[in-house]
Amino acid sequence: MHPCLLVTEILLHIIGFVENGTESQSTCRKSDIARLARTCRAFTDPALDVLWRTQCTLGPLVKCLPGHLWTQDSWGAIEIVSKPTIKDWLRLRKYSFRIRVFELCRSSDRPLDVGDVTLCTIFSPDVFHALFPSLHTLNLGFLADRIPLSLLDDVLSPRLAQLRFRLPHYLEPDDLHELLESITNRAPSLRALKIDACAHEQSFVHPSALRFDRMPYLRTLCFPSKLYISPSSLLQPRQMQNLQVLTLTLTADPVPALHHFDPLVFPVLQCMRITTPTLDQLCDILRVTASTQLREISVFYSAPASEAVMHNFFQEVQRAHGRSRGLHILVLHHIYTLDSSILKPFVYSPSTFKPLLACHRLRVLDIRDIGHLAIDDPFIEHAALSWPVIEELRLRGLPWIDSHRTTIGSLRELVRGCSRLARLSMAIDARVLPEEKSAWRSLPLEELNISDSIIGHAEAVERYLRMALPNLKTLIALDDVHFWKAILGMDGTVWNE
Ligand SMILES: *[C@@H]1O[C@H](CO)[C@@H](O)[C@H](O)[C@H]1NC(C)=O
Repeated sequence: MHPCLLVTEILLHIIGFVENGTESQSTCRKSDIARLARTCRAFTDPALDVLWRTQCTLGPLVKCLPGHLWTQDSWGAIEIVSKPTIKDWLRLRKYSFRIRVFELCRSSDRPLDVGDVTLCTIFSPDVFHALFPSLHTLNLGFLADRIPLSLLDDVLSPRLAQLRFRLPHYLEPDDLHELLESITNRAPSLRALKIDACAHEQSFVHPSALRFDRMPYLRTLCFPSKLYISPSSLLQPRQMQNLQVLTLTLTADPVPALHHFDPLVFPVLQCMRITTPTLDQLCDILRVTASTQLREISVFYSAPASEAVMHNFFQEVQRAHGRSRGLHILVLHHIYTLDSSILKPFVYSPSTFKPLLACHRLRVLDIRDIGHLAIDDPFIEHAALSWPVIEELRLRGLPWIDSHRTTIGSLRELVRGCSRLARLSMAIDARVLPEEKSAWRSLPLEELNISDSIIGHAEAVERYLRMALPNLKTLIALDDVHFWKAILGMDGTVWNE
């Protein structure tokens, strides 16, 4: 045997290559690795390690129990039929101690392959902790619709580094708090905590249930949109000093005042995706965020924001862009409701967006439904020079507002100034087409959404655009303005305000 194959690390790498085949070949890869494990004694341990380290189902493990202890029904689901003895469990341990990652999900193409009894048996604290001493990643995507969350509670441990699970449709607030409390208490080494939810109900998390200070290593925190967290539990001093990715929804409570002697807030944050009732809150949070490593700011807000607040927000973004050289994604969506407040939307003049013109490294700028976006050709001309590396640009007010001050001239300027622009969404006034000789071309532009534009001759516009944009794959020009006006009753057809 070649001497390099005697080095376990090298052998693990080589066997790892066999494992990382494409999905369709994965079963044959598994059997290849199993064959390697039987080839010679030197290969056995590394091959078994690779074979077992990541598991998507519990079936293979349960099948290692003696045959009389389990059955398989006609659907393929495996169920334990009599209680395994200590000796039986020890037999499993030979394989199970190699498992580091459980990604137990239930999808239509990969149903969970064991029955409830088996699941509950394996997830009982005694069995679980004895079987899986090396487990550090637990993804229980199926949990909510399958077994009670108390099972999760039983398997938390200080070894866990990554935890992901799904909340049920409805959860008593007390149960939710208990669960969050036990996670922070019993899995303090978590680096990633992701909670998904299909919940329809809103749940407000009491600040006392969220002791982020007990999870000092947390790098990724993703909470579902229906789980509301107060700004004060987020901004406690000395917590989340290692947080890099933050996704959550805030309550309407005020952002606490921080003092200059407080330790840094989010010193290494890279990605911030926050849903908030008001944009003011986000201004306050951005103001205290100390990170110089921000890459993405995504904000989804619900109460209409005045022009002053909007300007303030963009100023904070500009400051963040000044601090963080990597900041290149800005997403701002207004989540509006069909009520009277949007009948008189705020108007945002071009000067509102001026701070954004200083953000030269933006690659994605996605502004949607924020109100009346009164931008015009001169603004776009300026913008085209300010965002030289932009790849995706969406500038959209509320869909039923006619803010057609930009023309095809704006498209031309953007295409000239932004040589990487591939996706553009903007309403324009396309009634007047420029003369043919002022031809311009863009090769990178692949997707153009000019919905809600004013278009005179649709065919002429399309011909013109396709000539200028030879690589265009998608041209969207649905005109929803009339539809929206009807819904909102602005023509007096539905209701009168
Ligand atoms: C095009 O833009 C409109 C207005 O923002 C939006 O409603 C629509 O979903 C977009 N279409 C596509 C396919 O992206």
